[in-house]
Amino acid sequence: MNLERNVSLKSFNTFGVDASAQYFCEIDSLATLREALNFRRQEGMSCLVLGGGSNVLFTGDYPGLVLVNRLKGIRINAAVAGKVLVTAAAGENWHDFVKYCLEHGCYGLENLALIPGCVGAAPIQNIGAYGVEVSQLIRFVKVKDLRTANIDVLSAAECAFAYRDSVFKHELDARKCIIEVGFVLSQSPVVKLSYPALQDYFADQETPDPQQVFDAVCAIRRSKLPDPAVLGNAGSFFKNPVISAAQFESLLVKYPAMPSYSIESRDNEPKQVKVPAAWLIDKAGLKGAKQGAAAVHDQQALVIVNKGGASAHDIITLAQHIMARVEQLYDIRLEPEVQWLPKAVTAE
Ligand code: FAD
Ligand code: EPU
Repeated sequence: MNLERNVSLKSFNTFGVDASAQYFCEIDSLATLREALNFRRQEGMSCLVLGGGSNVLFTGDYPGLVLVNRLKGIRINAAVAGKVLVTAAAGENWHDFVKYCLEHGCYGLENLALIPGCVGAAPIQNIGAYGVEVSQLIRFVKVKDLRTANIDVLSAAECAFAYRDSVFKHELDARKCIIEVGFVLSQSPVVKLSYPALQDYFADQETPDPQQVFDAVCAIRRSKLPDPAVLGNAGSFFKNPVISAAQFESLLVKYPAMPSYSIESRDNEPKQVKVPAAWLIDKAGLKGAKQGAAAVHDQQALVIVNKGGASAHDIITLAQHIMARVEQLYDIRLEPEVQWLPKAVTAE
């Protein structure tokens, strides 16, 4: 195990914010993970697992052990009735994994192309894009307990997936290291074109194949979202808020162009709609708003970018300004999607 002390995390988060880890270790095997967890237990310190650092904001140094997941390996199992179980180790790059599945005739993940980060983080916030959420394709998530080092396999139902949410953000928050994810993919092409941007893209083409959907998603994403290698960011900073249909109707009186997505509601529950936070922020006139070197991206208002040398304080101050203005205008409270670290975790 190559354990380092006082390591800068600047290149381990796509915001490019400076912070350091008291202890740091890259995990490339289960044996190294076991050793690292033993060390953590002996020292009684808290522990954080990172993938690509594309959904985190370091608000300060990490007072414990940061593990970067580099576990590798993909296995395609024998198909049954046109469905195939594909398992991937948590440290595999997400986009490369999507590409690999497509190249091997395993379909279903194309709409999730080009999302940064690793396979192991995909279940944490149930990544979603262009009309697909990863929970629709996950069969199981294999985890190692950070305290007991026991290995468990959670079914998709046990993961309690919801919009940008799962059990890993609640009961199991900071308790498990995801080591492998199992996906059920299809041997016959599955093409999902419900998302408006994809419908527009294929307006003149009736039946694109999965490779064309993959290419379209990559092209649309490149046209809207900043490349973290060029401009630091963590994707959507906030979740799209879910509000009651009644509140939406009353907002429409003042803002008749406000878009919405309908969402499934359970019997007896009041109807709700999801509203694009990007639209709320954009219409509030906040595109381009700045705080120090942090700014609202001028092509996608839901993304906060680091124009060079932004501190966590700059980003948080700008985020709070956005939240206050959105609440004042629409009576909607935005919730950050990005994970703010370190969280108040108690070492055991
Ligand atoms: P990290 O940022 O390293 O970690 C995120 C959280 O998961 C942290 O709390 C971390 O502790 C935990 N974690 C990571 N790996 C593990 C593990 N193996 N075990 C236990 N906990 C772990 N997200 C979407 O849903 N849809 C999008 O369309 C999308 N587009 C994006 C575009 C850009 C340009 C960027 C920068 C981000 C985007 N994101 C999107 C957000 C982000 O890419 C995803 O949330 C991704 O899954 C994060 O992966 P990661 O490996 O970088 O996770
Ligand atoms: N819009 C504006 N102004 C903008 C940008 C968008 O008014 O600056 C409007 C658009 O016209 C559209 C609506 O907002 O009506 C939605 O925009 P977009 O299609 O770009 O998607 P989004 O809701 O902003 C969500 C996800 C993204 C995901 C895309 C595509 C969340 C929080 N974000 O963004 O995920 O890639 O849909 O499915 O759900 C992420 O989670 O990090 C992320 C990038």
